Amino acid sequence: MEARLYQKLWEYSQSGSYPFHMPGHKRNHLPGIKLPYELDITEIHGFDDLHHAQGILKESMEWAAKEYKSAATWYLVNGSTCGNLAAVHAAVEPGISLGREVLLEQGKPYVLAAENCHKSVFHALELKNVPARILPVRQEEGREWKQDILPEVVEQALSTVDCANVRALVLTSPTYEGYVSRIWEISQICHKRNCICIVDEAHGAHFPYHERFPKSALYEGADLVVQSLHKTLPSLTQTALLHLSKEGEQRFPGLREAIEKYLRIFQSSSPSYLLLASIEECLHFMKEKKEELMPPYIERMDRFYEKMQGLTHLFVLPPEKNRDLSKVIICTGEQGSGPLLKELLRIRCGLEMELCGRHYVLAMTSCMDTEDGLNRLADALLELDSFFKASSKKAEPEKTKARTGTLDVLVGQKAKENIYIYPPGIPIIRRGEPITEEAKKEMEAYLEAGIHLYGIDIP
Ligand SMILES: Cc1ncc(COP(=O)(O)O)c(C=O)c1O
Repeated sequence: MEARLYQKLWEYSQSGSYPFHMPGHKRNHLPGIKLPYELDITEIHGFDDLHHAQGILKESMEWAAKEYKSAATWYLVNGSTCGNLAAVHAAVEPGISLGREVLLEQGKPYVLAAENCHKSVFHALELKNVPARILPVRQEEGREWKQDILPEVVEQALSTVDCANVRALVLTSPTYEGYVSRIWEISQICHKRNCICIVDEAHGAHFPYHERFPKSALYEGADLVVQSLHKTLPSLTQTALLHLSKEGEQRFPGLREAIEKYLRIFQSSSPSYLLLASIEECLHFMKEKKEELMPPYIERMDRFYEKMQGLTHLFVLPPEKNRDLSKVIICTGEQGSGPLLKELLRIRCGLEMELCGRHYVLAMTSCMDTEDGLNRLADALLELDSFFKASSKKAEPEKTKARTGTLDVLVGQKAKENIYIYPPGIPIIRRGEPITEEAKKEMEAYLEAGIHLYGIDIP
């Protein structure tokens, strides 16, 4: 299939047709503003309705499903956020056959959720009033970030007797930092107990396009897979995909319809055609250009990692098995400050990082990164390296530090809001849960490092 949405939008903009319909800009430019007003239309004759796709959008999504070898692939204009909201809601929908007796009368259905799920997953559980059992995620000693969820943990959780009503497992793979879980083993464990396996692969939309990336969960037995195109592929912000695997469709009759129901709830009834066209163009571009784009990108990354071996104080994690090489984790060491490194890279070198922890920053790369861009990062890190001797911690913002003692009063109280740093938006404490001593220490450590905490009023 040809990419058609953009072409059709362009032709329509040239057709002379006058818009007595939304949007209110009527395809006119605001003076001096270079936004693509002329292509921004609504669901008019000849186009389609994303909530009940019958025409050009239906064909496009069916083409995408064929390319991805999925049972269905939906275009999302509200990011992986709405993919997660719809997936979790759909999985606990009573109409879905789980192939076993679900003891609904004897207890509510519930969900197993990895502790490092994005806030959208916890929002879904809260909105649907579905209890979750939170599963621990592996975190190696000395590392500031969570890594993968172990199959044993899922097995253990699912084999406990009180799991008769468990409907789904939701986990994040890859994580923001690029760690993938052993999805094949985990999905088999889920399926032994007819439990829907949902993988938030928001950070792994590029996985299907080169074998040096981990395998996409879509080909590892997951039933529902959510991917943000905008995060790691050339597509506009907010664009994402939700896939239902062929096996998932067979295993769980009714799941497709439930997803469609909830996408109609969580997606705008006026989806942006600019975003939809961007999704279609991105998928075509990747299909046509992946051989041309991906191998040189991987080579650029290999050269980057090789150069980074020259660092002495800073440390770039070399590519590892089960970690996506596109995510560059730059560690400052215990004595160094992530926020300081982030600021130096921004102010002195004009390089903006994706995420900043206490002692690391994360640079996100994609196949659109140039040799020049990666060289700029490599040269900046080599230059800043000597700066990061044991003394760099003293650059922490004093104002934030002075306030940290006051968190003591929060211990034992129930959190009024999800408390998290952003990015990544993973709650440290979820709304309604008691604030533990351990969580307080983690929050203090972020504040001490000068990192803003959301969801908390510091007394
Ligand atoms: C793991 C994870 N899932 C989902 C999301 C939400 O994605 P989006 O921004 O596409 O809505 C994010 C956003 O950062 C994320 O990190």
